[in-house]
Parts: sequence; C-alpha cells; structure tokens
Amino acid sequence: METREAASPPGEALAGRAPRSRAAAGLGARCCTGVGVLGRACGRGGARGYRAALCAELAKPLLVRDVPSPPLQPHQVRVGVHYCGLNFADILACQGLYQEKHTLPFTPGMEFSGTVVEIGENVSAVKEVRKTQECQSFGMASCTLMLWRIPEGVSDEDAAALPVTYGTATLVLDRRARVQPGETVLVTAGAGATGLAVIDLAVNIFKAKVIAAAGSDAKCELALKSGASHSVNYGRSSLRDEVKRLTDGRGADVAVEAVGGDIFKAALQSLAWEGRIVVMGFAGGKIPSIPANLLLLKNVSAMGVYWSRYQKENFPVFSSAISSALQYHQEGKIHPNIGAVFKLEEANEAFNHVLQRKSTGKVIISMK
Ligand SMILES: NC(=O)c1ccc[n+]([C@@H]2O[C@H](COP(=O)([O-])OP(=O)(O)OC[C@H]3O[C@@H](n4cnc5c(N)ncnc54)[C@H](OP(=O)(O)O)[C@@H]3O)[C@@H](O)[C@H]2O)c1
Repeated sequence: METREAASPPGEALAGRAPRSRAAAGLGARCCTGVGVLGRACGRGGARGYRAALCAELAKPLLVRDVPSPPLQPHQVRVGVHYCGLNFADILACQGLYQEKHTLPFTPGMEFSGTVVEIGENVSAVKEVRKTQECQSFGMASCTLMLWRIPEGVSDEDAAALPVTYGTATLVLDRRARVQPGETVLVTAGAGATGLAVIDLAVNIFKAKVIAAAGSDAKCELALKSGASHSVNYGRSSLRDEVKRLTDGRGADVAVEAVGGDIFKAALQSLAWEGRIVVMGFAGGKIPSIPANLLLLKNVSAMGVYWSRYQKENFPVFSSAISSALQYHQEGKIHPNIGAVFKLEEANEAFNHVLQRKSTGKVIISMK
C-alpha cells in the first residue's frame, strides 16, 4: 500500500462508442472481450497482453495473471489504464453477493483513468484523445462504452476515484433526495469512499449541513475535517439519540444510508418531519426491512439509488453526474479523498483493507 503516486506505464482495456472530445470515459466492453479493469500491459509495446487480477472462483483470492490481449474491434478503443477505483461492489461481485452476476472468470472493476492508445475504425469520436477516464460495467450483455475527457488540472488518480463515488453522491443528493440549501443530511459509513463524496458535495455544492456517522473516532474526525458539521461514532453511541440531540430534537432532513441492518433502522428513526432516506447499500451485510408505520408517522419517504442502472435507464442523468463531478473538481469546488493506493499485485490486500473496515476515503489500484 502506498500514498498517492504519479501516473504509471499504461495497461490496457478495450472500450467503444466514445464521445467526441480530447479525453473521454465509459461503461465498457470487458464482458465481451475478457479484458478487465484491474490489468496492465505485459507485452512489449502494450499490445500482446495484460497482467490482470482475475476472479476465477467466488469468495477466493483474486489471481494476478498474464492474459492475452484481444484484437481491437471496430467499435472499440484500447485504453492504457493508469489507475482503477476500487468499490465495495467489486468485493461483493467477487463474493457472488452483488446484484449483477458475472460469468467466471472475470476481472472486477467499474472505473479507471488511462490513455487512449488505439482507436477502432468505427469510433469517430475519439481522435485526438490522450487521457481518458472509463467507468466499466462488468457483466453487461452489450458492449457499450462511454469515455469522459479528464479536464486539465484533474490528476489521473482523482479521475479514477470520481465516477462511482461522486456519480452516486450526485444522484443521491440531487436526483433522489433533492437536497435543499440549509437542510441537514445524515450519512452513514461517512468516512468511506462514497460517504466522503456525499459530505463533499452536500457541503460544498448543495450548501447543506452534514452529520457524518462512522464506526470509529478516527473516522469521525476525518469526516469533520472533510466538512461535516457533526459526527456520531455508531460503534459506541446511539445514532438515533445523537442525531436527535444534534438537531435539537428535530431530526435530519435526509439520510444517506450505506450500512443496512440496525444502522438503517436508526437512520430512518432519525429523520425529521417529511424526511427522506436513500438506501445506498448494505456494507454490514444485512438487508433491512422498513416498518411502514415509521414512514406514515412523520410523512417520511424512503427511496433507493443504483448508480450504474442510470447508465441504461437514463443516460443523460448518468453522464451529467460524472461530467459535473469532473467540472467541480477542475473548478476546485470539491476535494476527493484518496486514502490508499495499492499496486495490482496487492489487489487482494486492497480488497481486505476495505472489507476489514480499515479504509478511509477512496482506495485505488495503481497499474505501475
Ligand atoms: N447504490 C449504489 O449505486 C452505490 C454506489 C456506491 C456505493 N454503494 C454502497 O455504498 C456503501 C459504501 O461503498 P464504498 O465503496 O464507498 O465503501 P466504503 O464506504 O469506502 O467502505 C465500506 C464501509 O462500510 C462500513 N461498514 C459497516 N459495516 C461493515 C462491514 N460489516 N464490513 C465492511 N464495511 C462495513 C465501514 O465504515 P464504518 O467503519 O464507518 O462503519 C466501511 O469502511 C456500500 O454498501 C456500497 O455497496 C452503492
């Protein structure tokens, strides 16, 4: 594990249908080509193959292997990958617990930054592109891809860290909960990758107040440094009581819930009149039920968010969430937090780092 590093020699990934611009990003074609995100070039010149982290058996360690480089299809571009973002969903997918199932063996990964190194003959959009950021949706039946140009001033590391966390946080706060300036947002797993993105956007873009809830004092401290007004360590305090105290008995307007189980129920009970709770994930492993009387009593709304589904159902919303995050970052309005950088060979350590609740902020994989 290392701290932030400079961009590394590129690996490869295949992608297609990129938009016209100097740099782009996308949902990728790995499912069709067998080429994944957690991989780097292993042949001379980068064209012969990849070194990739493969999930060959569910709930077993990833295998880091050389795999052959498939020929570029007319609708694809080949991307030299610099950094990959690691997401909780990648871990769930490799355990067979994610909502989308993948055919074994597969290479996990949903997002990366890199450089376009080869462009298929039918891809008209990416001609002069040097740097790309790709979001790859594994397990998809079709080979579609989008690439977003990385603006000047945005590092490759940050570009690999933004799409899922800030894309999801934007959808949660804007599209789903419709957070208003001055409202109070409660976020659980508040020092995690998505939690810190929610804090960053809620405070700096939506001008809301944030109560961050997390599992340790150190994590609470980080959330406060990242802009939260208050924090609650739900490892040793009652989340419901603390939110009540911090809001003078009123409750939070919005709860962004990523843990599930009892924490979800406490977050639901912490809402104010006409509050909204957004179900984001179940990192604790228990999918909670919602007692309908709790919705009725305070006119509360419960809703879900599923970032990658927007790619299929409403692409303009999906795309806009990523574009706006890149723009906010370029303008210096948001500050992504990268907590750890692992090498490809350390992919299993990276998974464990997140799974054992040791991580804060975003974990990325360097293809060096
Ligand atoms: N719906 C979507 O589209 C979407 C998109 C992105 C992420 N998510 C979800 O959001 C959650 C956070 O994802 P992330 O990638 O940003 O991860 P993360 O928050 O960086 O890491 C997971 C965090 O979850 C908390 N946690 C609580 N119980 C846990 C347990 N038993 N095992 C592991 N972690 C536990 C830990 O924080 P504490 O120690 O502070 O409790 C841990 O640090 C996940 O549930 C993920 O599936 C959903």
